[in-house]
Amino acid sequence: MRSTIRIVALATAALVAAVAAAPARAAVKETGVYTKDQAAAGSKEYQAKCSRCHGANLEGVSAPALRGEASGLKGDSVGQALTFVSTQMPAGDPGSLSTAEYDDIVAYILARNGHPAGATALTPASAKKSTAKL
Ligand code: HEC
Repeated sequence: MRSTIRIVALATAALVAAVAAAPARAAVKETGVYTKDQAAAGSKEYQAKCSRCHGANLEGVSAPALRGEASGLKGDSVGQALTFVSTQMPAGDPGSLSTAEYDDIVAYILARNGHPAGATALTPASAKKSTAKL
């Protein structure tokens, strides 16, 4: 009888530990903050408006790389990236694109940095809420 109680207690403790650990595991899998369609549109817009200085492959030419370890955006939040791009870029003509075009281009930059696509589109409001880092 005593040992049965102990086994039940141990099993309960294991279950509690497993449940407590679940949110931590779930947090590792990043929820996509942009759609595939946005990244596809952003790819074309990036080539037209950004690649001249940042490189066709985001590798950096006369301007910093926007991908990988050398990326000038490394460590920035999605909100910071979108705010910077939409207010400062393209250099020489900042703010010249539509809000949707800036959203698309940042979606493309996220995709090229290994961030997953998701069900909801990137917007300035959703970008601010995202905890993902470039
Ligand atoms: C005429 C050249 C030119 C074009 C076109 C251009 N950029 Fe830039 N961009 C620059 C330069 C130069 C810098 C570095 C500015 C600085 O460090 O002050 C820069 C910096 C950036 C940064 C910050 C990187 C860092 O190291 O901090 C981002 C992000 C960026 N550009 C995105 C874009 C996007 C997106 C587009 C297209 C909409 C674009 N740029 C178009 C020249 C350009």
